[in-house]
Amino acid sequence: MKTAIIYSTRSGTAEKCSEKLSKMLSGESVVINIKKVSSPDLSEYDAVIVGASIRIGKVQKEITEFVQKNLETLKEKRLGVFLCMGAGEESFSDYLSQNFPKEFLDKCTAKGFFGGEFNLERLGFLSRMMLKAASKGKPQPHVIPENIDRFVKDFED
Ligand SMILES: Cc1cc2nc3c(=O)[nH]c(=O)nc-3n(C[C@H](O)[C@H](O)[C@H](O)COP(=O)(O)O)c2cc1C
Repeated sequence: MKTAIIYSTRSGTAEKCSEKLSKMLSGESVVINIKKVSSPDLSEYDAVIVGASIRIGKVQKEITEFVQKNLETLKEKRLGVFLCMGAGEESFSDYLSQNFPKEFLDKCTAKGFFGGEFNLERLGFLSRMMLKAASKGKPQPHVIPENIDRFVKDFED
């Protein structure tokens, strides 16, 4: 099985998770940054994993557009989706349903809540300020390796 992991990121977390996933999957896999390759040739792949991060409740618009534009083609593949985010798992399914069509989510064999990180050094001044204000007094998020393991199991089962 050949899998495309198609992701978008603002400060590197979703990219790191995509690369980790790619190493863990048993078949061949390719990691594609949707901001660099806006129309990947999906005919080459049996499976597609879509990964993104959340900012102010939303995933990057390139990912939303990619899923909308390719919905019918995607529905014919094995599918997975994951999110990197600072909030806890209780927000995960709301973020999914607010950002992806139900038709797409219903076809996903695996849905991954991967946690997140604050990569302050990769953020601009305003984002850093927003993040500091929003996260004051709250525990720092982290990427959750067990959830990536579980995602791979669900995806390959
Ligand atoms: C400006 C800004 C806004 C954010 N808004 C949210 C949010 O609404 N909900 C959330 O769960 N996480 C939010 N986060 C946390 C990010 O989702 C988290 O840092 C994630 O790891 C970023 O992934 P990336 O590096 O792949 O972009 C926000 C982060 C920043 C910098």
